[in-house]
Amino acid sequence: MINSNTHLYCIFGKPIKHSKSPVIHNAWFEQYKINAAYLAFEIHNISNAVTAMKTFNIKGASVTIPYKESVMDCLDQIDENALKIGAVNTIVNSDKKLIGFNTDFMAAIEPLKHFGIKNKKVCIIGAGGAARAVAYGIRENGGKLVIINRSVEKGKTLALNYDADFISMDEINKRDDFDADIMINTTSLGMYPEIKITPFPSRLLNKRMIVMDIIYNPLRTRLLAEAQNKGCVIIDGLSMFMHQGAAQFELWTGITPEINIAQEAILHGNH
Ligand code: ATR
Repeated sequence: MINSNTHLYCIFGKPIKHSKSPVIHNAWFEQYKINAAYLAFEIHNISNAVTAMKTFNIKGASVTIPYKESVMDCLDQIDENALKIGAVNTIVNSDKKLIGFNTDFMAAIEPLKHFGIKNKKVCIIGAGGAARAVAYGIRENGGKLVIINRSVEKGKTLALNYDADFISMDEINKRDDFDADIMINTTSLGMYPEIKITPFPSRLLNKRMIVMDIIYNPLRTRLLAEAQNKGCVIIDGLSMFMHQGAAQFELWTGITPEINIAQEAILHGNH
């Protein structure tokens, strides 16, 4: 029940109406009987929003597009991993000291861990903020990276940072063969409403690949549908989303939450 002792948590982003973060965090607060509520705020100025965390004693916040990078200038402290990635998706209010973390990189690795990452050839499609977090997680776990990106300059910069090879999207579209153990799409290509688009030609998919998409709307992107038809193991975007949320919840409450309950709330809830 909400009362004068209820702690507030929230997400800052723009747009924010599609966000599933309130569903998972409120489900966990309920499950673990924590007197807290989580709300979504569409904000236009990240600096004002962060200042308001101190004013209203907001205990923690998620940060999403387009503020994951700009929020870094507004915080009192930034964790080492987030600093190296160059993006923050979680703020912890520790006695009015606002500390930034990144839970995306570990979330990307979590569903891949049991297949093994060390010395595997991992191909990341994209070179934006999400790609940086995923690349960092893969490198930390000893994977060998290949970056595919539309913009050559951005792709090469990311590749240089992570000791990776780079292939442009143009080139990949002309190729007849390509090999990787793990393929990860970090671009928005294939996301609703553009569900007929795929970031990677299906003729280059083969059944030895594990194919992961960080898009969760739709869950079965064209890339994943084509990969499944080829016999690949596929990992949908809900997996990474749930794990980044679980890691946030743990930073805020010290509790490692069960993924299942909140995932059910997303898949079968009325929202
Ligand atoms: P995020 O923080 O979510 O990763 P971003 O930083 O804007 O978002 O990065 C988006 C990524 O998707 C980029 O790699 C972008 O390619 P460019 O570097 O060439 O811009 C890629 N992307 C987005 N729309 C694309 C499209 N229509 N075709 C190819 N790549 C696209």
